[in-house]
Amino acid sequence: MCGIVGYTGFRDAYDVVINGLRRLEYRGYDSAGVILEKADGEFEIKKTKGKVDNLVAISKELHNTSRLGMGHTRWATHGVPSDNNSHPHVSNNGKIAIVHNGIIENYDTIKTMLINKDYSFKSETDTEVLVNLIQYFMDKEPSLTFADAVRFALNEVYGAYAVSVLHEDFPGQIIVARLGSPLAIGIGDNEYFVASDASPFVEFTKEAVYLEEGHMATISLTDGIDIRTIKENTRIEPVVQELRFNLEQIEKGGFEHFMLKEIFEQPKSILDTMRGRLLVDEGIIKMAGIWDHLERLTNAERIIIIACGTSWHAGLIGEYLIEEFARIPVEVEYASEFRYRNPIVSSKDIVIAISQSGETADTMAAIKLAKEKGAFVYGICNVVDSSIARFTDAGSYTHAGPEIGVASTKAFTAQLTILSLIAIKIGHHNGNLGKAEFMRLITELDAIPKKVEEVLNSVDKTVKEIAAKFVDANNFLYLGRGYNFPAALEGALKLKEISYIHAEGYPAAEMKHGPIALIDENMPIVIIAPKIGHYDKIVSNVQEIKARKGKVIAIVNKGDTQVAAMADYIIEIPETAECFSPILASIPLQLLAYYIAVDRGANVDQPRNLAKSVTVE
Ligand code: F6R
Repeated sequence: MCGIVGYTGFRDAYDVVINGLRRLEYRGYDSAGVILEKADGEFEIKKTKGKVDNLVAISKELHNTSRLGMGHTRWATHGVPSDNNSHPHVSNNGKIAIVHNGIIENYDTIKTMLINKDYSFKSETDTEVLVNLIQYFMDKEPSLTFADAVRFALNEVYGAYAVSVLHEDFPGQIIVARLGSPLAIGIGDNEYFVASDASPFVEFTKEAVYLEEGHMATISLTDGIDIRTIKENTRIEPVVQELRFNLEQIEKGGFEHFMLKEIFEQPKSILDTMRGRLLVDEGIIKMAGIWDHLERLTNAERIIIIACGTSWHAGLIGEYLIEEFARIPVEVEYASEFRYRNPIVSSKDIVIAISQSGETADTMAAIKLAKEKGAFVYGICNVVDSSIARFTDAGSYTHAGPEIGVASTKAFTAQLTILSLIAIKIGHHNGNLGKAEFMRLITELDAIPKKVEEVLNSVDKTVKEIAAKFVDANNFLYLGRGYNFPAALEGALKLKEISYIHAEGYPAAEMKHGPIALIDENMPIVIIAPKIGHYDKIVSNVQEIKARKGKVIAIVNKGDTQVAAMADYIIEIPETAECFSPILASIPLQLLAYYIAVDRGANVDQPRNLAKSVTVE
């Protein structure tokens, strides 16, 4: 999704903006632009299709020419990626400049109105409509302040946005606003930063104000930060928060890609997720979010899990966990479907919303709907203070640390860890899990970080070699049963999103109902086959595949002989309880996708067309 960076202070604005845009690259984008306010108040703008490097190539002479600037990485929504459609966009009179993340849904009506009043447009974007609407209000009422004109314009549009706006006649001012898309303001000593998240400025300041929904802020060195509601123009006191991550956490730390770094961080990130919550010696699970609402959660007639993408896969495993241990019926829904299908939800339901970024527009809208219908919404988010984290009734952070690679890895295993804790906790509380079983499960969960480490150390080389054999494959099938069916879906998603190889995940038993027709000597099939649950059935599935000459890559337990004897390639993982096996199985699946993508020369951290936080529907 689009990224916004802005700066006013004593540093070189160009450097702050360009470096900030690099930190937001993980969000996914197709063009980039920068605007600087020169000493005489005039703007200098450079923008281009392509990467931040392309922007630097055409703009480096702007280095050290300004102390105030803004930058943008665009993820195309209205109009193709092109120099023209890139941000910033400037109003007809050349005085107002804007960068924008999100979608203005009624842009067409406003554009027609403006065209009828002789405004013209150079791009196909909704953003250029908004900047001209601001000019329109100032043309109509020349005594209007810049902030009022921005506010008037924002009251006319609907959709989701975060914007940052400059005006040549109001030098030194940056106006930002948000409705649906995140925006953070960094507060330094005699300097201010604005950005889509805090990563562009965490190296300069640890103090930030997260702009709330429907708020706008006028920022200047002379007058500080003035926050108002967009609708009523009511003044709001800024709430300054301390950033809880550091620069090191958002850098690659010697790894070739963020994705690889994040895969290898999992022993620690899972441990961080459990830290202070799983107290095996005391025989308890202590989770503030759950604790405060335990009765409500325990007495829920139904739990509905809503999420998108990888988080949805975690939700599916959550369904297996909660139904097995807490014996509460669970439904798992794509947030994007839930929000539009008038679902039956009541105050007796608990909704669990899962989101790494905490900003996914569909998930946010689904939560709003669930709350309107009276449900209690519990959030599982990774990004602290994200919109979803703040909007839900209660929740638990996954504490996996910043995830920069677009393909979710450590956030997924952290989500599985939290869901395991929740399911076991509720199950123990409502009497479905006896003490002995509870202790067995938490002892095993406690051992998971070590086992993940063991997997990483033992399979990396094997997976790399297997990946090299399949670099030219056009299709992949991923199969698993029970808890490992959603793990198969996740494995397939990982491969397709970063390597662009078509991959499908299926419950292994479903193979005979269609996908088996695809199997021949050219079809690689990844099958998750630890010796648990219905292992004998998986053995039969492997036999069926081999009878059709499919190439089997099997994830098996150490020392497995039956599947190993039939498979073309095996990847060994340690034994664990069935319910935690997706955590261990996910590690080689992540590595397989990673190495295949690297071998194909793909940009693993920023795959084409994808964005890290999907703030448009
Ligand atoms: C896949 C991936 C996406 C996200 C999805 C939801 O690797 O990252 O499928 O899982 O866009 O994002 P969050 O979890 O931020 O709501």
